[in-house]
Amino acid sequence: MLEKIESIKSEAQNESGQISSADILEEFRIKYLGRNGILNDLFEEFKTVDKESKGKVGKSLNELKIYIQGIYDERKLTFESGSGSAADNMDITLPGRTFNKGTKHPVSQAIEEITGIFERIGFQVYEGPEIEDEYHNFDALNTPDYHPSRDMQDTFYVDSTGKDRQYLLRTHTSPGQVRIMESTKPPIRVVVPGKCYRNEAVSARSLAVFHQIEGLYVDKKVTFRELKGTLNYFAKEFFGETLKTRWRPSYFPFTEPSAELDVECYLCKAKGCRICKYTGWLEIMGCGMVDPKVFEKVGYDPEIYSGFAFGMGIERPLLQNTEFLISGCFMRMM
Ligand code: DAH
Repeated sequence: MLEKIESIKSEAQNESGQISSADILEEFRIKYLGRNGILNDLFEEFKTVDKESKGKVGKSLNELKIYIQGIYDERKLTFESGSGSAADNMDITLPGRTFNKGTKHPVSQAIEEITGIFERIGFQVYEGPEIEDEYHNFDALNTPDYHPSRDMQDTFYVDSTGKDRQYLLRTHTSPGQVRIMESTKPPIRVVVPGKCYRNEAVSARSLAVFHQIEGLYVDKKVTFRELKGTLNYFAKEFFGETLKTRWRPSYFPFTEPSAELDVECYLCKAKGCRICKYTGWLEIMGCGMVDPKVFEKVGYDPEIYSGFAFGMGIERPLLQNTEFLISGCFMRMM
């Protein structure tokens, strides 16, 4: 495997000299860094490497990834750095560019990849506040006072005595939907990535801070079929063509009807493993048709407009790389 890594490194090095446009750079990214790219295949293969060689192979695999990511980042900067001749754009009084070692955080990488998939079909990215009020986080989303998620056990409230609104750390990205609808008129196509907070006991599977991406699509005559088409497209782009999706009925206060989308487990290729609890399926998001009550709250006429919404956690799909990340971290410490 070490030889293979070496030869891929020199192949990438050769190709890096031929990246003369942003399109070629994108091909380079898909080939090496894409979800079905060479690096991911290598990480798969890495799992089968015997214990004694794991340290060595993992280390050079790590270095390969950093090397290729470095080529990509550097070229990307070149294409982004504007028009005009180099001399026009150059300010020789600026300090030199420092070289940052390391890579982007996996959560940031995933958010970029997911928002990118939606941007390609016309969605825009919007970010809402992390400190929210009860109205946007719950009431406007048709989540009444007595709903268990409003309990102190689940939600971090911010001490806001004396203010006319109760503030809290948003428990999901769904209030972003409300804020967008309050400030714009349909048609709307947005994705809202961001941090969320829940009063969870910290364990290997859950933290009190995590990330979600919300989606909202509103127009005249939007149907459930468009919801399915859009999210099936997303699942294929993100998890690969070959994995099947499955739709289950569900319940959320702000959508009617509601559904949950599962994808075949990409770790065991649906054979059954620890991560999918031997079911072969992973839950990836909640979704549904926006409840007319939510439209009424933001002043949209539900007789004229319809729409769909979805929300997914970011950390879970990242489990795919966890094994590698852990071994990589240990190696860097050694
Ligand atoms: N906000 C939900 C949660 O945190 C996820 C969700 C479900 C968002 C359905 C939606 C939706 O927009 O339609 O569990």
